[in-house]
Amino acid sequence: MKNDIVEKLDDKNIKVVCFDEIDSTSTFLKQQLNCGETGHVLAVAKKQTAGRGRNGKSFYSPENTGLYMSVLLHPNCRIADAVGITTCVSVVVARAIEKVTGKSVGIKWVNDLYAENKKVCGILCEAVNDYKQGTTKSVIIGVGINLSTTQFPEDIKLTAGSLGVEAECTAALCAEIANALFSLEFGGIPENVLEEYRKKSVVIGRDISYFINGQKFTARAISIDNSGGLVVESNGEIKTLNSGEITVRF
Ligand code: BTN
Repeated sequence: MKNDIVEKLDDKNIKVVCFDEIDSTSTFLKQQLNCGETGHVLAVAKKQTAGRGRNGKSFYSPENTGLYMSVLLHPNCRIADAVGITTCVSVVVARAIEKVTGKSVGIKWVNDLYAENKKVCGILCEAVNDYKQGTTKSVIIGVGINLSTTQFPEDIKLTAGSLGVEAECTAALCAEIANALFSLEFGGIPENVLEEYRKKSVVIGRDISYFINGQKFTARAISIDNSGGLVVESNGEIKTLNSGEITVRF
């Protein structure tokens, strides 16, 4: 698997680490960073035993039926320039999936990818910031894609799905995503990326719900603003959500 990935990487100097099994590729890269890693690294696993999602959730990562990968980058940019990265990553991963597998995917704000109304890909972006200097030193981007998983745990079985593609495309998909992530530019969200994000949104025009401090709100999603925020309307009042989790009834 490692050779198949490396031969497709644009930059052959990137360190690539492949595991048959690991707790989490993102946790592994965090440990590497804490041990002083200063280079770009790609970590890929056939199975994760403690895959992590956003908001402390877990990410189901069974053996050989998904792509579980993380990259370590060191943008060393202003924090403000790294903020739009979540939006950019959704678009580049969606593009890569479509290019390699031929399957089209939509984006559920902030950065879940959906196919046929089921979540097929989760993305976890973790930044290491130096607040004194106002910079984002490093970023770990974790991408989990359900390729052919058919059985999901009880708590996600109604919302999770798979792309329905075989494991043969894993190396090509991994390299395509890695190439795009290693060439991400930190400096705000480019206009063409925003446009594509809006086009691929499965949320705009739909009724959604979300929680703030334990209180549930419902609203209609109306647009994505230039910073990637979700603009919602409820009883004539317009608000912008900048982070968090929303629920959409498909
Ligand atoms: C989410 O759905 O909330 C994000 C899921 C991100 C999962 C990927 S799988 C590879 C990497 N390692 C992890 O532990 N998480 C990410």
